[in-house]
Amino acid sequence: MIYDIIRSMLFRLDPELTQNFILKQLSIMNRTPLEKIFKRKLTSNPVNCMGLTFENLVGLAAGLDKNAECVDLFGAMGFGFIEVGTVTPIAQIGNKKPRLFRLIESEAIINRMGLNNLGVDNLVNNIKKSKFKGIIGINIGKNNSTPIERSKDDYLICMEKVYPYANYIALNISSPNTPFLRALQFGEALEDLLSSIKIKQKKLTQLTLKYVPVVVKISPDLSEEEIIQIADSLLRHNIDGVIATNTTIKRSLINEKSKYYKEIGGLSGRPLQLISSFVIQCLAKELKGRIPIIGVGGIDSVIAAREKIFIGTSLIQIYSGLIYKGPKLIRDIINHI
Ligand SMILES: Cc1cc2nc3c(=O)[nH]c(=O)nc-3n(C[C@H](O)[C@H](O)[C@H](O)COP(=O)(O)O)c2cc1C
Repeated sequence: MIYDIIRSMLFRLDPELTQNFILKQLSIMNRTPLEKIFKRKLTSNPVNCMGLTFENLVGLAAGLDKNAECVDLFGAMGFGFIEVGTVTPIAQIGNKKPRLFRLIESEAIINRMGLNNLGVDNLVNNIKKSKFKGIIGINIGKNNSTPIERSKDDYLICMEKVYPYANYIALNISSPNTPFLRALQFGEALEDLLSSIKIKQKKLTQLTLKYVPVVVKISPDLSEEEIIQIADSLLRHNIDGVIATNTTIKRSLINEKSKYYKEIGGLSGRPLQLISSFVIQCLAKELKGRIPIIGVGGIDSVIAAREKIFIGTSLIQIYSGLIYKGPKLIRDIINHI
């Protein structure tokens, strides 16, 4: 109820300005007694996955806390895990504004942020200060200025820097707003990236005496055949898990007359629900439980969360649902799943 009132006021303002304003307020409250405002009683429901114990199965999806500025506060809201990033080796400003659009009637978002972030060193400094006891995933990517054939170098640089501070590392090879990034999901490019990442993981495990699982985040705009090929590569390279999915470039489930229909970028929220579930179902069929699936895409209710679990996900993440429904969504899912 309170969130509905706040939302109706905030939704009249520019989406990116509003989001930045809220994140700024949250970062001010982060690691202060004001965090208590968000604390509620939650049902204890731990999940073991990838050798880690998650306090509960609901996580914050990548892209909201890009620079890990509000980890403790999101933790206080009840998230069992928080995925920060996507972070790149050096800071980048992302695409030209406006680049974030709310499709209120569809409970959706279109974004073409372009992986704006303050760089990996800044993120690591913020994580070092965090007191959050839950699981922290660090989502890594490539700089726009790095040629696609050198992308691997960016992932390896980020991996080395975040490894000691991450509970898991997510490779973002599926954002639609970084030119050619999605090409890393296929053929030689994927093989090369995954084998280099596994070699690096082995070296860093020996060095730090800690095994940090690596997961790959994939796009919802893949054919069944492509999903099967990716699943096979993940298994062959002993990748620890897969996040399905990122945002879609499809517009099939929104009204053509919608104000922002023609805006370029990744669509998230309710219209992504079905599209991401299709990918998860194909993955689940191919993976047969050998590696876990983290389900994300349009989860905006307890039913939507149940559906993702029913089709084979071990954990779930939310982003757009949090914007439209507020922190109550996290508690509802945890308490009623
Ligand atoms: C504004 C915005 C920025 C995002 N940034 C990232 C990002 O940096 N890295 C990433 O892997 N996913 C990013 N995502 C995708 C989300 O993590 C998630 O996969 C997607 O939004 C689908 O979930 P949802 O329907 O619950 O929003 C972003 C999504 C939005 C809406």
